[in-house]
Amino acid sequence: MESYAPTPHLRRLPLDERVITALDLPDAESAVALAASLGRQGRFVKVGMELFTASGPEIVERLRKAEREIFLDLKYKDIPNTVAGAVSSACRLGVSMITLHADGGRRMLEAAVEAAARSTTPDLPRPALLAVTVLTSLSQDDADEAAPGGGPISERIVRLARIARDSGCDGVVCSPKDLPALRREVGNDLLAVTPGVRPAGAAGDDQRRVATPAEAIRNGADFLVVGRPITRAADPAQAIQAISRELTNT
Ligand code: C5P
Repeated sequence: MESYAPTPHLRRLPLDERVITALDLPDAESAVALAASLGRQGRFVKVGMELFTASGPEIVERLRKAEREIFLDLKYKDIPNTVAGAVSSACRLGVSMITLHADGGRRMLEAAVEAAARSTTPDLPRPALLAVTVLTSLSQDDADEAAPGGGPISERIVRLARIARDSGCDGVVCSPKDLPALRREVGNDLLAVTPGVRPAGAAGDDQRRVATPAEAIRNGADFLVVGRPITRAADPAQAIQAISRELTNT
């Protein structure tokens, strides 16, 4: 089967287009207005469960019409057949990246990769499939309580990243703090998308394993997902520009 690999396009972007603004907003109107205000550095936007649940798939079409590329962060985790169906539907929306939980297991990830390959056409390139390792909001204690015996978070992440790579996923989502171990143990082939990014001095909110934008890039991140430091700023365009400047000065 011919494959239209998504990763060359995503790997060639300039550093100041690698911030993904998380549009964690309750309705389509505010999301489209915010996305439109961001300028060139706002090329990528995240549509996550809050916005997608409120607005449905039409929000993807509206944001694409506004020339935004979409990181569809619905973190699929279910039986392989169900996830394969969801991935096919997401591919038809024309998004650039899709997330799945790595701990859904190897067979689920493989089913997703096959579904994405089947849904691809020359007009509709295959989105990058990104496996979420351990949520950046989880501390070691949180992780131990939810899944006892899984070992240190850094080891869990490396283990899950290997499964993602071996299943044919294009990348992983993890904390910037966890990237050095991941790059060392699993290599540089996987795209790394890192939430848990906070400019120096900004509030951590509910995130637990955070780093600054510069630190994330130095640790090997390809894309940064940043939400509240941009969406709740008095001037979101200025906030994303400041973060992008920090990246290009790294
Ligand atoms: O507002 P904040 O910058 O904390 O938003 C981070 C975004 O990244 C949220 O949309 C969240 O869902 C997402 N995310 C995360 N941790 C992961 C995967 C995604 O924080 N492991």
